[in-house]
Amino acid sequence: MWTDIPRPQRWQEPQKNNPLPCFMLVPLFTSEIIAERVAVLGKEITETYQSESVPLTVVSILTGSIFFAVDLVRQIRLHVKMDAILAQSYVHHASSGEVLIKNKLKESPAGANILLLDDIFDTGLTLKTIQSSLLEQGAASVKTCVLLDKELPPEKKMTHADWFAFRIPPKYVVGYGLDSDELYRNLPGIYELQDDDSGKPEDFVF
Ligand code: IMP
Ligand code: MG
Repeated sequence: MWTDIPRPQRWQEPQKNNPLPCFMLVPLFTSEIIAERVAVLGKEITETYQSESVPLTVVSILTGSIFFAVDLVRQIRLHVKMDAILAQSYVHHASSGEVLIKNKLKESPAGANILLLDDIFDTGLTLKTIQSSLLEQGAASVKTCVLLDKELPPEKKMTHADWFAFRIPPKYVVGYGLDSDELYRNLPGIYELQDDDSGKPEDFVF
């Protein structure tokens, strides 16, 4: 199952006149393994909400969770409405300590069963802030589902996610929607981003 993971590859930031930084992308999860887990999550979420009489409102936190959201909703066998919130908490590779929410939902959250999706759950500040805001606006329920749950000491986690696809060590990861300064989101798998000053960078092969 793990044999088809591509070998680590070097990637150079594409700016002219700036040969550094050069990163090593170490593969963690292939697109096939992600698809398997997303299908399992879709089934569990379907079972959880199948007796509800109102459609499930899936709210993805942009930009990072868009790939996860479009794959996951197609594995949920229920009526689903889709919406999105543009939020930012990370600046370069660290949390800024505050979450900037940049838009409102298309429909009022009042009375809705909301499933909030994010790409990665680190301290939980992003999920907790948006979950609290939706509940304050009258949502009937707000459950959370993330692609990745980063291992941290429990005292550093502000909340928990109701579902996650994979738990990972506290490394910086990219791909399948996750970025480093807006790059790498379109990699089909998930990779750990490691600094690499070991030599000549090579082109990444998709
Ligand atoms: P939290 O608010 O501390 O839970 O951080 C979650 C947010 O930080 C996510 O929505 C991501 O945008 C960003 N983030 C945290 N860790 C990573 C990472 O390893 N790669 C890319 N983005 C990350
Ligand atoms: Mg984010």
